[in-house]
Parts: sequence; C-alpha cells; structure tokens
Amino acid sequence: MPTDRRPRSPATQRPAASTSWDPLAHWYNGWVGEGGSEHHRLVAIPTVMRLLEVRPGEQVLDIGAGQGVLAPYITRAGAGYAGVDASPRLLDLARKHHAGAGRFMVGDARKLASIAGLRAASFDAAVFLLSLQDMDPLEPVLESVAWALKPGGRVVILLTHPAFRVPRQSGWGWDEGRKLVYRRVDRYLTPLPVPMKLMPGKEAKTTRSFHRPIGEYVNGLAARGLLIDRMDEVPGHKATAAVSNTRAENTSRKEIPLFLGLRARKLKEPLDQERSSGGRPAPGPDRSHAAGGATRRCFSAVDPGRYTPGRGRRRWSG
Ligand SMILES: C[S@@+](CC[C@H](N)C(=O)[O-])C[C@H]1O[C@@H](n2cnc3c(N)ncnc32)[C@H](O)[C@@H]1O
Repeated sequence: MPTDRRPRSPATQRPAASTSWDPLAHWYNGWVGEGGSEHHRLVAIPTVMRLLEVRPGEQVLDIGAGQGVLAPYITRAGAGYAGVDASPRLLDLARKHHAGAGRFMVGDARKLASIAGLRAASFDAAVFLLSLQDMDPLEPVLESVAWALKPGGRVVILLTHPAFRVPRQSGWGWDEGRKLVYRRVDRYLTPLPVPMKLMPGKEAKTTRSFHRPIGEYVNGLAARGLLIDRMDEVPGHKATAAVSNTRAENTSRKEIPLFLGLRARKLKEPLDQERSSGGRPAPGPDRSHAAGGATRRCFSAVDPGRYTPGRGRRRWSG
C-alpha cells in the first residue's frame, strides 16, 4: 500500500466537501465517544461487521469515517484499515483515538481517485457507516466506491431506514383504540435534502441529510456493477416512542426497523452484451407489462445476456 501524506493541522486544512461535519466535529466526538455511541456499539457496528465478513489480511476502506469509530473493529479482525472523511477535524480526532489502527485521509467521497494514497481496485471491502445518507449527490460517490474496489470486492452500506425513518417526514403515534404505537410516514418516494439541527441550545448548528427511496440505492449500485446480495433490516436496541405503554413500545421497536444494511459485490468482469448475445436482443418475457418488467429487471442483473452496467446508467440489450 502506498504511504499516506503527512496530515496538515486541521486548523489550516479546509473540509473536502460542503457536506462535511467539520463544524460539528467536537460535538459529534463527544456524542459518539471514543468507543462509539450506544447505537454504534449495540446495533450499527455489529450489523456492519456481520455484513462485511472481514477476513484477516483484507484491506477495508471506511468512507465517511468520522472520528474513526470503526477502525479498531476492522484491525481487530486482522484486516488493514483506511478511513476517508471530508472533515479534517474529525480525522484529527480519529488519529488521536486510534493511532496505529490504520490510515486516515482527508478527501471527498465523490472523488476518491483524487486522494493521494488510494489506488484503483485495491480494496477488498468498503463501508459507509451511517455516512452515505449525508453525501450528495449519490452517483459520483457510488462511482468512486466502484473505482476503489477490487473485482469481487464488496461494499456495505448502513443507513437509518429510508422507508420508516424519513427525517422530519415520519414519526411515532399512539392509536388509543387499538392500543398500539404506529409509525407515520408522510413522504417517501421523493428524494429530499433535509436540514438537521444538531447541538441543541444556542450553539445549534445545522447539517444536511439526504433522504432517498431505497430504489435509488439499489439501482445506483447496480448501474455501477455493484449487485446486492444481502439486505438486513435491523431494529433499535431500545424503544424511542414517547408513550407510556411499554408493551406497545416494545412491539413497535421490534417490528419497525431503525437501520437498513445493504451489501453489494462488484462484478468480476463487466458484463458485455455484444460478446454474450452477438448484439441480438435476447429472447425473454414481454417487459412492457409493468409488474413483469420490474421483476425481470431485478433478476436480469445477474443474467449476462441481458444487462450491461454502464457508467451512471443501465443499458438493456433488448
Ligand atoms: C454521521 S457522520 C458518520 C461518521 C462515522 N461513520 C460514524 O458512524 O461515526 C457522516 C460523516 O460523513 C462525512 N461526509 C459527508 N460528506 C462527505 C463527502 N462528500 N466525502 C467524505 N466524507 C463526507 C462527514 O464529514 C461525517 O463525518
């Protein structure tokens, strides 16, 4: 692996993207702590590690690494760790907490190829731990991760569940008649930048999160030859509904997931429709039928005769 450049002091280094959490670095570090928040330790990190299936000797790239909470888990599994984040301050804290646990590099997730110290097709796995939903736009980030992964490499994404936890557009409610806690969802299909007020009190600062329906992630990955082979929907570790019915709260906690975990694998070879079908449309079902078409799209991604991943879009052979 090439060596990292010596980091400049965070006071003199500018954030690498406007979505950086640099102004919130010290608050975020206090909230997460050196060993991770409760959410991290009890739910988010175990989910990511289960999906990653890290093997000794592998190289893992943590994109949107923040103050490096994942680094010790990866190195304890015997793998090499590299963390990238747009915030110089968060990475400075990462180096303090986890010196020796890997390399930390300031950079923009949308332009991984421009980070000195990263090489194309050099990582066995990449991970977005609660970070992809803070990056925008999505397409160059997915393009970048496909660039960084070895053929056959995997990318694991952990998000707050886009279908149930739409920031500012969903919430808990109490149904008195049925004595149950329900989740209300006001909007889902329209992608939405959402201002998030953090650091309550007079020093409140705003960051932005980007809501996207799940299809944006699935189709965005597939368009770059990253095919999903695992999806986990994970409940939180404790009830968050503000009602005084413990049984109902526990049921809603167990039934309505907090996180969505996705794992995708980079195709070993680009699928070449010309080579596999001689340029002729392959026989298949009528895709003009909406439901049949949708089903076919899902499964065609693994059928070399019918699907060609392109840069930024899907192309069809027939
Ligand atoms: C909610 S924090 C998650 C950090 C860490 N993974 C964790 O779980 O504690 C989101 C992170 O994404 C980073 N980020 C946002 N946009 C970015 C970009 N374009 N390139 C690199 N990092 C970015 C932010 O600076 C921030 O550290």
